[in-house]
Amino acid sequence: MERKWWQNAVIYQIYPRSFQDSNGDGIGDLQGIIQRLPYLGRLGIDAIWLSPVYKSPQVDNGYDISDYQDIDPMFGSIDDMQQLIDEAKKYNIHIIMDLVLNHSSNKHKWFEEARKSKDNPYHDYYVWRDGKEGVLPNDMHAAFGGSAWEWVPEVGQYYFHQFAPEQPDLNWENPKVRRAIYDMILWWMDRGVGGFRLDVIDQIAKEPDRKITQNGPRLHEFIREMSRETFQKGNLITVGEAWGATPELAKLYSNPDGSEFSMVFQFEHIGLDQQEGKEKWDLSPLPFLKLKQVFSRWQTSLYNCGWNSLFWNNHDLPRIVSRWGNDGKYRVQSAKMLAMLLHGMQGTPYIYQGEELGMTNVRYRIEDYRDLETLDVYRERLEAGYDKAEIMKSIYAKSRDNARTPMQWDDTKNAGFSTGIPWIRVNDNYSEINAASQVDDPDSVFACYQKLISLRKEYPVFIEGQFRLLLEEDANIFAYERVSESQQLTVVCNFFDKIVPVRDICEDKDKKLLLCNYKEVEENAILRPYEARIYLK
Ligand code: GLC
Ligand code: CA
Repeated sequence: MERKWWQNAVIYQIYPRSFQDSNGDGIGDLQGIIQRLPYLGRLGIDAIWLSPVYKSPQVDNGYDISDYQDIDPMFGSIDDMQQLIDEAKKYNIHIIMDLVLNHSSNKHKWFEEARKSKDNPYHDYYVWRDGKEGVLPNDMHAAFGGSAWEWVPEVGQYYFHQFAPEQPDLNWENPKVRRAIYDMILWWMDRGVGGFRLDVIDQIAKEPDRKITQNGPRLHEFIREMSRETFQKGNLITVGEAWGATPELAKLYSNPDGSEFSMVFQFEHIGLDQQEGKEKWDLSPLPFLKLKQVFSRWQTSLYNCGWNSLFWNNHDLPRIVSRWGNDGKYRVQSAKMLAMLLHGMQGTPYIYQGEELGMTNVRYRIEDYRDLETLDVYRERLEAGYDKAEIMKSIYAKSRDNARTPMQWDDTKNAGFSTGIPWIRVNDNYSEINAASQVDDPDSVFACYQKLISLRKEYPVFIEGQFRLLLEEDANIFAYERVSESQQLTVVCNFFDKIVPVRDICEDKDKKLLLCNYKEVEENAILRPYEARIYLK
């Protein structure tokens, strides 16, 4: 298979409003990101995926876009954006824009026109159904709660929204909508961006009359058309967000012929610690053997016929060290273990801001949360009679705000994020966990990520090696090997806080230890709590 640049790239996700504030208004911005490029250069990443910075009323923190070709003044200007693209290039860092194409903001000019009358030229840019006030077209629900239908008296119709009412769904059946989107993408390509992340892309081909949202019949037709008209004209990295992806579907999305995307984010591992058929708030312990099986299936199914994305975290997910590691006594070891486990696999790794420092979840009073999804579930579950303590337990575990607290740069006021009042509270542990204390420490979580990024560039087996799960039935150890023609990697991770023996893997004298997550390396057949090792042969 011909090697693509993004196959040995490591991507870093920035959630701009929480990364670095440059002007003291308490909100991260583009100039803030520019100031921190040396830090990212030092980490060694190849691209930044930037959560949306477009003009937006910020109902869903920028995932409600009112102008796809302008920057929200809160983040800066279009000139700042161009400066970021150009400055990042000096560090060999590409900028990946977040494209939210399933819906726009209700303040987008298309929607403002669309809602005026049925014969407005923009009316068909959205999904409408006739009706009477109070008689809904059907009982479909929106992801952030309530009905998926919203009444507009001016036209006597309901519009469809899979997310908040302020996020009306775009009508992909309309070729004019598709053309307008492609032109907008080409405009960004002209500005020199290196790729795109496509928000909830598997939900664009909806058919509400048949209650189809995910994986609609025309989905891959639309994606191929978009790819042909846009991405294929540049050497881009593209990654679709696809909650409904299976390995079979991922082969289509990430077909090596480049007809769709480079890869997709799939979420099978992410859904494992919730009760089956219920919501993410309905907690249940992580089934460890299942986790191994899920990764193994994705690794083997896409080998040579697709490409995986590798991630533990993003702006919608809790912090991995708190979730499946240990954010107390073994924070450093478990954060490194999780990094080594993931970065040893085949695919393109994504690091979410602060993950490289081992940043943790938060436990705030409800008034300190900002995310609309969190506030919605709090209200809904209180109304439904849940116990307050139980709701808060779910929020501590799963709130999207766990990922959205300000980046912890140093131990000065507000963790060095802002000189003003941060839009969301800083995690209290910033004086202990911050970048300044880690960048020069060879035993830090940061140093481990740095090392993993450079190993990936040094040894082709990280890119090419075929995956094989080891010790499938072991209840404590996650181990696998990666085998290419000339090299072999073995990754062994103790996933828990107990000491465990691991005789057969570590006693091979031909293996060279590439990386260990403990300061004192002990090359024996006993793994300390959360101990992880990567061997090369
Ligand atoms: C995606 C985004 C999330 C957003 C939603 C609606 O899941 O990652 O942050 O709320 O789409 O755009
Ligand atoms: Ca600012």
